[in-house]
Parts: sequence; structure tokens; C-alpha cells
Amino acid sequence: MALEKPYLDVPGTTIFDADQSRKGYWLNQFCMSLMKAENRTRFKADEDAYLAEWPMTDEQKAAVKARDLNWMMRTGGNIYFLSKLGATDGLSFQQMAGSMTGMTEQQYREMMLKGGRSPEGNRYIGENGDAQGPMAMSEAWKEWQEAHAQHALAEAIEQAEGAQPEGRATITASVYTSHVPAIGAAIDHGKTEEAYWKPLFAGYEPSKAWMKENTPDVIFLVYNDHATSFDLGVIPTFAIGTAAEFEPADEGYGARPVPKVQGDPELASHIAQSVIQQDFDLTIVNDLKVDHGLTVPLSLMFGQPEQWPCKVIPFHVNVVQYPVPSGQRCFALGQAIRKAIESYDKPIKVQIWGTGGMSHQLQGPRAGLINKEWDNRFLDRLVAEPAELAKVPHIEYVREAGSEGIELVMWLIARGAMADVAGGKAPSVAHRFFHVPASNTAVGHLILENNL
Ligand SMILES: [Fe+2]
Repeated sequence: MALEKPYLDVPGTTIFDADQSRKGYWLNQFCMSLMKAENRTRFKADEDAYLAEWPMTDEQKAAVKARDLNWMMRTGGNIYFLSKLGATDGLSFQQMAGSMTGMTEQQYREMMLKGGRSPEGNRYIGENGDAQGPMAMSEAWKEWQEAHAQHALAEAIEQAEGAQPEGRATITASVYTSHVPAIGAAIDHGKTEEAYWKPLFAGYEPSKAWMKENTPDVIFLVYNDHATSFDLGVIPTFAIGTAAEFEPADEGYGARPVPKVQGDPELASHIAQSVIQQDFDLTIVNDLKVDHGLTVPLSLMFGQPEQWPCKVIPFHVNVVQYPVPSGQRCFALGQAIRKAIESYDKPIKVQIWGTGGMSHQLQGPRAGLINKEWDNRFLDRLVAEPAELAKVPHIEYVREAGSEGIELVMWLIARGAMADVAGGKAPSVAHRFFHVPASNTAVGHLILENNL
């Protein structure tokens, strides 16, 4: 997947990267379940029955039953998770590590007593060190490979025949919109034609028409979770959803009657790995329910379809507890995301959306603050001088756009991913709209098309 993996030529080593994590998700979650005594008891009493509860592959289950750690790692296992299985069997970590080397327990212990394995000859595949031999394999793994050799060959032929179209992913456009929960409620309760709401929804009619003509394969959707999936137990600054599916969350009023969101685990893992390698520390989330911050923009742009017409990668930004990331950090992150997406070797179209804002304050005696002038200036600058806009400090958002207006920093992530920021042509404004109020909030909306 065109990711930089400089560790592939280290002998006898499997680095647990985003690809491995995706492959081994349920295997590792199964191992994690063995942290509970009652689960260990059930597993020991009937391994097949316990394993049947987990959506692991047949090969992963066979590897677990064989207690072959190399095999489990080959299918996505990570040693820290796999060690829970070893612990369940009463093994020490030294016994587990030794079992992967092809040495006897005694030989391994003696090697460690003599100072451990030398890196000499073991830095690169093909040197002459003592970790260059074939991987230790259990009889069960060898039998599995023989039994499945024919199948593997057939798969390889099929893959070669159905060769993927060549090319790279491109970012075609960015979309910016408020994600006010009351907008979702108005749609869900059939109030879009009411006098209060009609002007707002009229402003999104051109957007829906544009979207029909420009539906991407994937939307990278930047939003913030509003005390829904993330409570104060864990507060990630940036979190990327890498699951295959995300359910709409129940935020206290019941879940919105909208389709489940289909993710893109492969592209999301690729972006996670690439962006982290560019020194942005993302939290990787495999278990996430999405709130109005994500679903309201989808409703505004797509209406009420049976299924959302494309995949969506949720990207959460902490704008709830200070310190929240600066505009500049968000703008730079957008640039890193653009690099990540453009290094993905499938010719797909990706849109990046920035949501939240515009001016609003939801708390205290200052609640209800709206600043039309500042909001419209923000829209002007977002189009024309985003790098300068990114320098605006938090305090200006709070003073001018209200305490919750800080959500607007998320728009700078989407803007940072546009081509002109990387030296390309300026984007075209496909649509711009501004309206007050939606409940407590000013609503702003912009569609920028890349001129590639
Ligand atoms: Fe929000």
C-alpha cells in the first residue's frame, strides 16, 4: 500500500503495524478476553466452544489451538496480546519468547544467561547471524499449509487475473459545514418545510445537487465527538476510525434513524500509518459510535437515503477539553493527511470534510452569542488565505465566535489537505451559504473543488 515499511528486511521480526493490527483485530481481542478469570475457565473447559464466539478466521483459530505463536503473529497477533494466552497456559514470558526461536527451552535460557542473542549478522535478512534460519513452525502449521497450498495458489491466480486498476487516490474537493444537532432532529421529524427551517435547508439544495454529480468513493470526515463515544476516561486529541462499520450513537434522545456508516479500514489504516510516520500522534479507534457531529453533515449533503452512497472515515478532534489543538496544528495535519491519501495506490476519489462551528456559545450567561461579521470573514479567509487564518489563536475564537465556536479549527484540517496548500492551483468555490440561526448556532457552509 505504498507505505514506508523499513522494517520488512529485519530477520525473524514481525512489526505490529496498522496492517497487522487490522488483520489480527479479533485474534487479539480474543486474547484480551482472557484477562478475566471466568473467561479463562470457560476457554479451558471447551476451547472450540469459546473460540466459536469470536469472529476470527479458521486459520487464526487453528493457530491458537496449536499454540503456535509464530503462526498467530503471521495472522495478525501481537505478542503482548498473545501473552494472555500463554499466561492462561501457565507459561512464563521467557518460555513464550523461546518457543518462537526453534531452540529448546534450555538452549534459549542458556543463550540469555550468556548475554542474549547478538545483533551481529541479524540486522538485515541475508546476513549470516543466528536468527536467519527458517521460522520455527509447529506440525499443525505445516499441515495447514499443505492442506491450503492449492487454495492459496488459486487465490494468487485470481488476484493476478483480476488485477487492480492502477493509479493513486486523489482529493477532489473539501466540504465545510456546521453540524448542529437540531438540524438532524428537524430532518428526522419531517420539519424541513417549516418556516423556521425552510431557509436553512434551501441553502443545502445546491449542495445535494452538486453531491449527486460529485459523489466520492470515500469521505474523510473531520468532526468532534460530543461526550458520546469519548467520556473523560480517555481524551484523544486526534482519533481516526479504522473499523468497517460505525453505528449512529444514542445521544440521549435515541439513535438517529440514519444508515450505519460504512468505513474503509484499509485506507484508514494507511492514513493512520502514514500520518503517524509524519509525526502526528493519532489515536486509532476500532470501536466507535458516531454522533450528530458526523451524521448531520451526511444528512445535509445526501438527504435521507437507504444507505450512504460512499464510505466514510470518521476523524475526531478534541474541541471539548482545553487545550484543544491550534489552528496551525490542524492546518499542518491536513497537509499530512493529503500526503497520506495521495500515496494510497488505488485510483479512488476522496473528499475531506471539516465540520462544526460557526459562531456559537452553548454555556453560561453568554449563551447565544453569534458574530455574523466574524463568521463571514472566516469564510472569506478560509478560501483566500488559509495559512494566515490558521494563525488565529484560540482566544480569538472564544472572544469572537463563542466558546463552542472553537470547533472551527477542524475546518482547517480539511483546508490544509487542498492542492493549493501544496503548491497546486487555487480551488474553485462550488457553493457558499450562511444562515442564522439553527437553534443556538450560526450555520456556515462551503464547497471547494480542487482544480487538478
Ligand atoms: Fe459540534
